[in-house]
Amino acid sequence: MKENIAVVILAAGLGTRMKSKKAKVLHEVAGDTLLNHVIRAALHVASPRQIVAVIGYQADQVRESVRVSGIGFAEQHEQKGTAHAVLCAREVIPSKNGQLLILNGDGPLLAPATLKSLLDLQRGKSLGGAVVTTEIADATGYGRVLQDGKGFISAVVEQKAATPEQLQVHEINTGLYCFDSALFWQYIAEVKADNPAKEYYLTDMIEILTSHGHSVAPLRMDDETELLGINTRIELASADKMLRARKANELMLSGVTIENPESVTIDVDVEVGEDSLVEANVQLRGRTRIGANCRIATGSILRDCEIADGATILPYVVAEASTIGSNASVGPFSRLRMHAEASENTHIGNFVELKKTKLGRGAKAGHLAYLGDSVIGSNVNIGAGTITCNYDGQRKHQTTIADDAFVGSNSTLVAPVTIGDGAFIAAGSVITKNVEPDSLGIGRAHQLNKAEWAKRRRISRDAKEPAKSGS
Ligand code: UD1
Ligand code: CA
Repeated sequence: MKENIAVVILAAGLGTRMKSKKAKVLHEVAGDTLLNHVIRAALHVASPRQIVAVIGYQADQVRESVRVSGIGFAEQHEQKGTAHAVLCAREVIPSKNGQLLILNGDGPLLAPATLKSLLDLQRGKSLGGAVVTTEIADATGYGRVLQDGKGFISAVVEQKAATPEQLQVHEINTGLYCFDSALFWQYIAEVKADNPAKEYYLTDMIEILTSHGHSVAPLRMDDETELLGINTRIELASADKMLRARKANELMLSGVTIENPESVTIDVDVEVGEDSLVEANVQLRGRTRIGANCRIATGSILRDCEIADGATILPYVVAEASTIGSNASVGPFSRLRMHAEASENTHIGNFVELKKTKLGRGAKAGHLAYLGDSVIGSNVNIGAGTITCNYDGQRKHQTTIADDAFVGSNSTLVAPVTIGDGAFIAAGSVITKNVEPDSLGIGRAHQLNKAEWAKRRRISRDAKEPAKSGS
């Protein structure tokens, strides 16, 4: 069935009511653009090469924003109406037989099941076309659906062209259509811009097909929320909320516990494994993948991270593009970025930052450290206050710390530098030279103790300052 479908997504407009310099379809909900959400729905009924997006405003940016490869693009240079937009896709779509599905690029809530029902309705009854309609209380601005009394649609009239009587109709055209492709391309040339807006209206196809003896039926939907396009930032926010609620529900049904689900922010592409716990106020963004039996504690923000089974992310961890191994424990208040990699059973504690750094199995950095551009072996202990000096003002340099090494607190490791296997760095050292395996590296001033010094100081101070009375 997938073989004979072409999908055209209309996405050429700016969307003036967004009050934005950015094309409407580039605005994001639940971690992806409006257009990508529509494409995601379309992919349930067609393969990428059967999908064409009609773009115009900020065409290059819109093209780049589409992450699925194989999607076709057609440019509409001047916005002459919805029928003209579909016409622009004519040369790009792979097949002009079968079914032609037309969608709006600004409807991110569209459910795949609706597309399937629409395709089934058109094909099942060999209709000229089928249109998704719904009744809404305030139909202002929408095309009104006119019935022929036999269960078919005789026409859709746009707001500007409607008579006062037609304006009373509450059944609206949602802008989702399925046409018999061959008939559509046969008659599309009959659409004329003879309306107050001087646009080529796609909705005219309904009257045209009907006049040639091909019926067009409505697919009436009770719940309009999934069907409505985004026009303002308020609608953008409510679509975002709905998509995120849908995502949280999906995860809960698949075995994830979410505390206070309305407080979490989870992007659509995120994956979470069974029996993992997501606490309140967590943000899981981008392509984050979390394994089974993990705990992601409150306030943590993870973007494009991979978290293996059994890992614990304590409160307020901020991590980006990083990997955390199984049974590792991170946080509270840790920061990982730029491909930081904490292997299994590692422990990263509070106020520890890892940047482009690999921490080997079982290694620990419990408190207050900056580890950048480093390769750290297994079972290494990084003392509190350890800093890798990876930047000399011009270039970044690497620090290597081999397995089982012990780095004492407040050590400063001036890169490039290598600490050998099992070596020991004395606390407070500034290490500028490599340390051989199993050796002690100590780089600090010798301590000097002066006996009775403090006592003498106290006595001489008391002699100069007479005691204050009354205190
Ligand atoms: C359209 C329908 C209307 C329906 C409403 C549902 C027509 C004539 N009217 O009206 O019956 O109730 O959608 O939302 O089709 N676009 C282009 N190129 C153009 C014009 C539009 O790509 O030249 C795109 C827009 O970016 C948008 C979609 O087509 O994604 C719909 O266009 P829009 O101008 O919003 O149509 P409406 O006037 O809302
Ligand atoms: Ca619109």
